[in-house]
Amino acid sequence: MRSHLLNDTTAEHYRRSVTQGVERVAAKLATTDRPFTGITVDALAPRIDAIDLDRPLHDTTAVLDELEDVYLRDAVYFHHPRYLAHLNCPVVIPAVLGEAVLSAVNSSLDTWDQSAGGTLIERKLIDWTTGRIGLGPAADGVFTSGGTQSNLQALLLAREEAKTDDLTRLRVFASEVSHFSVQKSAKLLGLGPDAVVPIPVDHDKRMQTVALAHELARAAEAGLVPMAVVATAGTTDFGSIDPLPEIARLCEQYGTWMHVDAAYGCGLLASLKHRDRIDGIERADSVTVDYHKSFFQPVSSSALLVRDAVTLRHATYHAEYLNPRRMVTERIPNQVDKSLQTTRRFDALKLWMTLRVMGADGIGRLFDEVCELAAEGWKLLAADPRFDVVVEPSLSTLVFRYIPAAVTDPAEIDRANLYARKALFASGDAVVAGTKVAGRHYLKFTLLNPKTTTADITAVLDLIAGHAEQYLGESLDRAS
Ligand SMILES: Cc1ncc(COP(=O)(O)O)c(C=O)c1O
Repeated sequence: MRSHLLNDTTAEHYRRSVTQGVERVAAKLATTDRPFTGITVDALAPRIDAIDLDRPLHDTTAVLDELEDVYLRDAVYFHHPRYLAHLNCPVVIPAVLGEAVLSAVNSSLDTWDQSAGGTLIERKLIDWTTGRIGLGPAADGVFTSGGTQSNLQALLLAREEAKTDDLTRLRVFASEVSHFSVQKSAKLLGLGPDAVVPIPVDHDKRMQTVALAHELARAAEAGLVPMAVVATAGTTDFGSIDPLPEIARLCEQYGTWMHVDAAYGCGLLASLKHRDRIDGIERADSVTVDYHKSFFQPVSSSALLVRDAVTLRHATYHAEYLNPRRMVTERIPNQVDKSLQTTRRFDALKLWMTLRVMGADGIGRLFDEVCELAAEGWKLLAADPRFDVVVEPSLSTLVFRYIPAAVTDPAEIDRANLYARKALFASGDAVVAGTKVAGRHYLKFTLLNPKTTTADITAVLDLIAGHAEQYLGESLDRAS
């Protein structure tokens, strides 16, 4: 069994195994003609159930054959231009190479003595990101597992900085279309059930700052403590960007922590054309960025950045075996002092490889392309009488709904849209997402693949219309 340990004596075995795996995936990527096969849970589950984990195959080729059957053949492929559903991007090759390197070397980024250069590389990327945001000389941050964790940590810091120990008095203000991790964090942080105050959005799904000002004033009058305002720079459904400068001004007025959730919009930090859309982000106390959404990085790759490095102390605990206090005076760098995690992947390496091979402009160009594609898609939808489209995109999502000319019952239109999404998924021809707007079912394209064309968008819209019409036709038959 020692032959499976990766070490000096098994380097050749490692090379062969990994090469075999890479070749399988490369062949798969090259020949995938649909984003999904349309397999059902009922068809796939028995294949996985049938595998006896206590009976290993002892042969890499056989295991890869089996993997083809239980995973690779029916996986959902984000690199396919007709995968248009969630905030998953196709990934860039330098980052995938970084992934291979980081898992083989397997550094852990908690302490210097488990990572050495890894710690310094992560720190440099954090500085690079805070520089792009414009957070100033005292800024710092840490890589995290994703936007959910970054938001949780931001709100932890905000809670600790708030001027009360009475958790029931703390309030967090976030737009009604902010990410649910804000509410989840409030719960995890022990805040009361009413802690998150939803702020209405305008027609473009941006936080209404008049309403925010009103709620802040109301909270102050009621003796409540405004712990944080979460501004979203790229909402999950609409890609809308809250008015950051006005929110920053209100945060200053009320002495409130300003967190910007730029999990999605962070791609604009590298944009050559649209960086100004997130102007005001530099005034935040903390910022979430998900490189695995708009920097074309494999999951996971995210970071929390803060204006003032000192605030990260709220996540610091010392363990004699790991990060004793004396390390601070010995000036030995420790990322664990800033993180909610202890053992932690060297995800930063993927971004490092990306910046070193492609450069930030390369990433920015790709993100600009998908934003432009979304703008074109919006024009197509706005001109197409079969569809109602919600907002003109600030980033790269389109939320729309099929509206048949002959049907007026909104519930029936809901059912037709739900059916179209399901039927499309079952066909595997394309994958789209769904959401609700004002209580009605809508469909969503999240465009993160620069290979997707307007012809793809047109073709998928025709497929959706076809499925919806089929549903409505059958439903009429059922009624008659
Ligand atoms: C705006 C926003 N914030 C946070 C998150 C959570 O990020 P993650 O899925 O990486 O935890 C998402 C995910 O879609 C998001 O869209």
